[in-house]
Amino acid sequence: MNALYRLIGIRQSHGERTVLAIDDLALFPGKLYTLTGANGSGKTTLLTLLALLAPPTAGELRYEGEPVQWTNAALLGLRRQVTLLHQSPYLFDGSVFANVAFGLKLRGIRGDEKQRRVEQALELVGLPGFGQRRARELSGGEAQRVAMARALALEPKVLLLDEPLANVDRGTSELLEGVIAALPERGTTVIMTTHDPEHPGRLGGEQIHLIAGELACPGFVPEINASTGFQTEGVSNRAYL
Ligand SMILES: Nc1ncnc2c1ncn2[C@@H]1O[C@H](COP(=O)(O)OP(=O)(O)OP(=O)(O)O)[C@@H](O)[C@H]1O
Ligand SMILES: [Mg+2]
Repeated sequence: MNALYRLIGIRQSHGERTVLAIDDLALFPGKLYTLTGANGSGKTTLLTLLALLAPPTAGELRYEGEPVQWTNAALLGLRRQVTLLHQSPYLFDGSVFANVAFGLKLRGIRGDEKQRRVEQALELVGLPGFGQRRARELSGGEAQRVAMARALALEPKVLLLDEPLANVDRGTSELLEGVIAALPERGTTVIMTTHDPEHPGRLGGEQIHLIAGELACPGFVPEINASTGFQTEGVSNRAYL
């Protein structure tokens, strides 16, 4: 299986400070990764890079085997494949339906298909019938779930979730965990940050742990066979936590 993302010699700096330093990391399609680490360890920085929203200060990011060209023209198509659910998502003042449908409209998805996807996404996050509610009047947890529905409705190839379960109650968390865990079966690659130590075990998949911007276990670097590009399965840095 070829890597979906490959990070080589990546450095992300703000002024003098390097906040992300990953020498080699490969992420594979149709898999689920949990991304853990203390506050400020670089999780959001890494997701922002994977979302192709900001180029690294140094190093090479490859997507589907090709080095990412950081020009607007080259990024336009790629960014449509990748959706990032922000840590503090923004909903505009309007109906829940309009918020969930927003990205679909931008992609030219209209009519019945738009309706179907919005309704299905709201159902998935446990908010059926919320379409006509005003987004600004939702509770914090409800707003978080609407933002999740907006991301799911896009049915992206890669879904990057930045602490999607941080503000939701236990029942909702279990519901969303089920939704998230099922995504790889549909071919979606999921990378999700979390501070809940139980999530990596409950959701399955692989865990990537960052300590001060570096992989906790450089051994997580998959054993890429130089000639085939295949990864040895089952490598995890969980034992190093
Ligand atoms: N625009 C910026 N300018 C300067 N420093 C920044 C900037 N963005 C992030 N940083 C710093 O980079 C480091 C990593 O931040 P990041 O947001 O990636 O951490 P995180 O692991 O997502 O933390 P949290 O768990 O709190 O969300 C932090 O020390 C942060 O202060
Ligand atoms: Mg963060």
